[in-house]
Amino acid sequence: MAVTVVVALLLLATSPAFMASASSPVPAAAGGSPSVPAGPLDIVQLGAKGDGKSDATQAILKAWKNACDATGTQKITIPAGNFLTGALELAGPCKSSIIIRLDGNLLGTGDLNAYKKNWIEIQNVDNLSINGHGTIDGQGPLVWKNNECQRSYNCKILPNSLVLDFVKNAQIRGITLLNSKFFHMNIFSSQNVLVDKVTIKAPGDSPNTDGIHIGDSTNVTITGTTIGVGDDCISIGPGSKMIRVHGVHCGPGHGISVGSLGRYKDEKDVEDVKVTDCTLVGTSNGLRIKSYEDSKSSPKASKFLYEGVTMDNVSYPIIIDQKYCPNNICVKSGASKVAVSDVIFRNIHGTSNTPEAVTLSCANNLPCQGVQLVNVDIKYNKSNNKTMAVCKNVAGKSIGVAKELACL
Ligand SMILES: *[C@@H]1O[C@H](CO)[C@@H](O)[C@H](O)[C@H]1NC(C)=O
Ligand SMILES: *[C@@H]1O[C@H](CO)[C@@H](O)[C@H](O)[C@H]1NC(C)=O
Ligand SMILES: *[C@@H]1O[C@H](CO)[C@@H](O)[C@H](O)[C@H]1NC(C)=O
Ligand SMILES: *[C@@H]1O[C@H](CO)[C@@H](O)[C@H](O)[C@H]1NC(C)=O
Ligand SMILES: *[C@@H]1O[C@H](CO)[C@@H](O)[C@H](O)[C@H]1NC(C)=O
Repeated sequence: MAVTVVVALLLLATSPAFMASASSPVPAAAGGSPSVPAGPLDIVQLGAKGDGKSDATQAILKAWKNACDATGTQKITIPAGNFLTGALELAGPCKSSIIIRLDGNLLGTGDLNAYKKNWIEIQNVDNLSINGHGTIDGQGPLVWKNNECQRSYNCKILPNSLVLDFVKNAQIRGITLLNSKFFHMNIFSSQNVLVDKVTIKAPGDSPNTDGIHIGDSTNVTITGTTIGVGDDCISIGPGSKMIRVHGVHCGPGHGISVGSLGRYKDEKDVEDVKVTDCTLVGTSNGLRIKSYEDSKSSPKASKFLYEGVTMDNVSYPIIIDQKYCPNNICVKSGASKVAVSDVIFRNIHGTSNTPEAVTLSCANNLPCQGVQLVNVDIKYNKSNNKTMAVCKNVAGKSIGVAKELACL
């Protein structure tokens, strides 16, 4: 079958009639035969040099255009080598399904003038796969000093490394993301996205280098992935639904967080999040739901299951914080507008680095509802204090939990 297709393509490719029809808009046949792209899909054939110095931006943009204008499944190749680039805005809609095979290293230039917003931004694409053993290296150390977000609430945001906007049916597998300038990955307004066996790495003290941020997206699954960064390993923002996080190792970092919620007007609800079989090592938070105390909108956060999570030396392993106000840059009103309900923590074990193994800090005007602690066994294992739960304005129940943590 495959052989027949290849032979047919070779014949067709040399036929002038076919070349003409390939460049005119042919309706995409889903899973149908691929057309011959208008030019190469290997970035080296398009002039990219893997010397770490030459600018490969145009070659990659051309490969994208060649793939996007063809039909069927088209595969862009980024072979071994170090390819320096500026902004890569890879926009659809495409007539084809696109595979980006990444075996080389992409290096994001340290020249911030080369970016409008993000570094690699894929928009309006249906059926995308990025896989290989290569690296997306944001070269963050060159620009982290320009980050002002620790000091100012409305700071200028540095380029995120890999952004999916309005993408449907995507798989990102096997690659490494290294030292992003801002977030490593941002999945926005997308559906049916799988991130599998990806490695994300930046120093524990690098600013805002979140591993994977998700917003306004449905059905995003992250499996078998290792994340060590300077901010949240995974952050699940407003409008996220059907999020599955399974077999993720996090640390260093700020943990697996929902939020921050309520920062902006018109935020949508977060619901149906499952975090299972994960490990957190040396992170500042473990499993966290955070919303701004002075929230500008009132999204609901509901239906969370955290199950089978191991904590090793985590500062705040379980934390719901309806009074989040980092660096005191918001107005402390005392009244939350973000309702948190139906949150189950089941089979959570390990050690904490502060006495507060469980912190459920909800607002008195809007108590958290339906929170369950089931077989939660976390110990503060230093001798200068004892393990405790600090719980305020929260309703629910504790089952199979030692007395010092059974605050519900
Ligand atoms: C994406 O894949 C689905 C299922 O195979 C197909 O129906 C759809 O047409 C494809 N879209 C594109 C742009 O290839
Ligand atoms: C969710 O996304 C996965 C791909 O990650 C897909 O296989 C599955 O069918 C999707 N589920 C729904 C309900 O759309
Ligand atoms: C525990 O974490 C703290 C702070 O995150 C760190 O300073 C300390 O070295 C860690 N302890 C161990 C035993 O790893
Ligand atoms: C604390 O727990 C770690 C493992 O998480 C262990 O290596 C260490 O010995 C423990 N310390 C004490 C004082 O129990
Ligand atoms: C034990 O930890 C709690 C919570 O962090 C703190 O409020 C308290 O002062 C500590 N007690 C001692 C004796 O350090």
